[in-house]
Amino acid sequence: MTRPRSSLVHQASYALKHPHKVVPHLRRLARDSWLRLRSRDHVAYYRAVMKSDTARSPEGAVGSHSHKRWLALGRMQFDYLVEHGLKPECRMLEIGCGNLRAGRLFIDYLHTGNYYGIDISPDILMAAHDTVATHGLRDKLPYLTPVRDLRFAFLPDEHFDVVHAHSVFSHSPLEVIDECFAHIGRVMRPAGWFDFTFDRTEGKEHQVLREDFYYRTETLVALADRHGLDAAFMDDWERGPHKQSKIRVTRRR
Ligand SMILES: C[S@@+](CC[C@H](N)C(=O)[O-])C[C@H]1O[C@@H](n2cnc3c(N)ncnc32)[C@H](O)[C@@H]1O
Repeated sequence: MTRPRSSLVHQASYALKHPHKVVPHLRRLARDSWLRLRSRDHVAYYRAVMKSDTARSPEGAVGSHSHKRWLALGRMQFDYLVEHGLKPECRMLEIGCGNLRAGRLFIDYLHTGNYYGIDISPDILMAAHDTVATHGLRDKLPYLTPVRDLRFAFLPDEHFDVVHAHSVFSHSPLEVIDECFAHIGRVMRPAGWFDFTFDRTEGKEHQVLREDFYYRTETLVALADRHGLDAAFMDDWERGPHKQSKIRVTRRR
């Protein structure tokens, strides 16, 4: 069983084993406290985190510390989704699209106008515009829209075949995921699906600062069920090198 990362004993033993991580963590802790004081809710807080991280490096802000890793992480998401049903004619919604690490490949592959990316961070969406321009994707006319919540109130009923959220719920408290599950079924076509990754724990659920959240699979499956969604754990994703796990959600018929 994993020891909760928030416990003092765990933190002290982690610091002893990884001394080089202590100063960066203290810096994040100071920023966390400052931004938490200034933000009215989690989304406002995380938008501020993204603003600060994007100013330093858009690729770093979505979690890639080199351009090579940024390309590889995007390719991994894209290849998996194509192997699991994505077709050029699909209409796709990407939640938390970031600076289009995978989005640039989805945009290129899908028919013109079929990619819709949303994100809470206007700063990372500006970087997404740069990705569209530098990767020659203007003619594909992707939608890139800032959002303040995950209610999808401005999107039409039963529109999307595929919804994708990579490394978004790993940064989300349960109420944000709950809001997403409560509304996502309305914008999905009846046979559509929604794939998302999450940081999985087999021990106690916990969070690191307000940035990283660890859930048990059964918590997310039960939450989906409460909103009339069936959730399936994607076993074959575990064989890849990515640290997060993946679940596919579909509308119950
Ligand atoms: C780690 S990045 C991953 C970006 C992209 N999915 C990728 O794989 O490159 C997480 C992204 O999700 C966005 N995000 C976090 N919480 C969100 C929410 N509740 N709604 C929409 N976007 C969110 C962040 O602004 C950020 O761009």
